[in-house]
Amino acid sequence: MRLLRTRAELAQWRAEQQADGIGIAFVPTMGNLHDGHLRLVEQARNTSVLTSPSVLVSIFVNPLQFNDPGDLARYPRTEAEDCAQLAAQGVDAVFLPSVGDIYVDATVDGTGLEVSVQPGALAEHWEGAVRPGHFAGVTTVVAKLFHLVRPAIAVFGEKDFQQLQIVRRMVRDLDFETKVISVPTERASDGLALSSRNRFLSPADRRVAPLLYAQLQRAETRIRQGVDSVDQVLADSRDALVAAGFEIDYFVFCDVDALLPRRDAGPGILLAAARLGVVRLLDNSRVGS
Ligand code: PAF
Repeated sequence: MRLLRTRAELAQWRAEQQADGIGIAFVPTMGNLHDGHLRLVEQARNTSVLTSPSVLVSIFVNPLQFNDPGDLARYPRTEAEDCAQLAAQGVDAVFLPSVGDIYVDATVDGTGLEVSVQPGALAEHWEGAVRPGHFAGVTTVVAKLFHLVRPAIAVFGEKDFQQLQIVRRMVRDLDFETKVISVPTERASDGLALSSRNRFLSPADRRVAPLLYAQLQRAETRIRQGVDSVDQVLADSRDALVAAGFEIDYFVFCDVDALLPRRDAGPGILLAAARLGVVRLLDNSRVGS
């Protein structure tokens, strides 16, 4: 597995793939890898879109998408363990740029960018409302990574569903040639969605945490059955979560494309974010298809 620490090393590796006629399957991450990331890598390797692709994983904790400096400082950095896992998965190369390599005019005060990629209405609600500027940080770094890597495909997890839809929209609206592929959320045996932040759950909170997905599933079943109103179903799930100690940011039912609330039963997606102790959990569940 090649370790590429600068954009120049990445460009050299990319030129080699191009010379050999090999397409690049790309998995962008912020590191601290878990089984969810490894499923993305498997999907990149086995995509039907490319035959025998070169799989490249990037590990870059992107300061531009953190609106809380404490959260950025706390974000776990586990490069050696991450690279060992990726080597065992047969990944071809890992891109590990510094902040200065991605944001060439960066200073201690910021990225030094004059121009960035600003998402529209899709980024206004839910995560976008709770974390102002977060999605502009994501779209900007993903656009930069796509330009640097020039992947034929890029793989994203469905756990961050709003992020996935915004990246898809950016690719479509700005004519990137990369095809975005998504992978279902990887879960612990009790249903908790895997996340790098789960390690900060206290043992007591870890026991309660699976309730978020349990309530999403319960709401999904009830909306599908259509006996109670969507408003009632959502209110019952929120009450159950609050009673169990969650502080809810949102627990909503939306249409899948615009991610706007829908009050009638039918195909859609339930999106949820809630705090348990110091950890913010994010999850979702599709209703119909
Ligand atoms: O989902 C993530 O880990 C990040 O938002 C991403 C896509 C790697 C961009 O920094």
